Amino acid sequence: MYTQALDVMTPQERAADRAAPRSAEDAAADAEREAAFEARIAEGGFIEAKDWMPGHYRKTLVRQISQHAHSEIVGMLPEGNWISRAPSLKRKAILLAKVQDEGGHGLYLYAAAETLGTSRDQMIEALHSGKAKYSSIFNYPTLTWADVGAIGWLVDGAAIMNQVPLCRCSYGPYARAMIRICREESFHQRQGFDALLTMMKQGTDAQRAMVQDAVDRWWWPSIMMFGPPDDASPNSEQSMRWGIKRISNDDLRQKFIDATVEQAKVLGVTLPDPELKWNEARGHWDFGAIDWDEFWNVVKGHGPCNRERLAARVAAADDGAWVREAAMAHAAKQATRERDARRAA
Ligand SMILES: [Fe+2]
Ligand SMILES: [Fe+2]
Repeated sequence: MYTQALDVMTPQERAADRAAPRSAEDAAADAEREAAFEARIAEGGFIEAKDWMPGHYRKTLVRQISQHAHSEIVGMLPEGNWISRAPSLKRKAILLAKVQDEGGHGLYLYAAAETLGTSRDQMIEALHSGKAKYSSIFNYPTLTWADVGAIGWLVDGAAIMNQVPLCRCSYGPYARAMIRICREESFHQRQGFDALLTMMKQGTDAQRAMVQDAVDRWWWPSIMMFGPPDDASPNSEQSMRWGIKRISNDDLRQKFIDATVEQAKVLGVTLPDPELKWNEARGHWDFGAIDWDEFWNVVKGHGPCNRERLAARVAAADDGAWVREAAMAHAAKQATRERDARRAA
């Protein structure tokens, strides 16, 4: 997912959470509230911003939603790189709208995370200092125009698989933001597929080779987007119990691969995995081993573009500082005027 399922507390945070001092009455009241909270989730109800929730649930959500928001915003960079070089007016208009959509997704998600009591400044600071993660997929470069199509088809395609179940997430503000986001994501996937299909069916040999090269480079990173395998995700279980996560990493990955293999046939591209094979007994496509060393290497900051992406975000925040300051000054001036008008009345 855009959050890579890395949405867990550190061992230190968990120990501190458990060790927090409580009186016997407080502990009893917490147990009662926790039972009501669990019952609400079990019956498929939503938890809202002002409802009581366990500290670990709140922290897990802040981490997941802010990682998701950062991914949307950082995700604007690889494709934004191609806006000025899109091959036609139509493709340029589509790409501009898509990159703008991603900016909007980031904003809905920052707003959803803020309802949990974390300010946007804190989240941005965590991103800029390298403390917060974003999806590693955006640390790969976009070398050709076909990369823009491959991102739409594969990266937005994988994002949809991950995000549709989040529309039923137990935290109301996140679930509602996801409904709107998913509607836009499906267009993102289609525009990518359409751009690739046009090159494959109407393009030159060189364009077809460019598409194949982009698919070769984006295939493995896109299936890594579902996060580590289930047996290496011990905390997923808690997220499942809380209704934050509905489908496991491996099940989502399989679903994505099954859908995408068929789409690759329509496109006429080869997926770069010689072990991809239909398994009649399982009713799914088997696939080769994923290079998890590569995944962790990029998560830890050593991917091809990690530094460049973060530097671009920090520079954008610095360049926009005057706009935020001007807006704050204007708001303060307006508040003063309104206060003076009320006094005079
Ligand atoms: Fe998005
Ligand atoms: Fe998207």
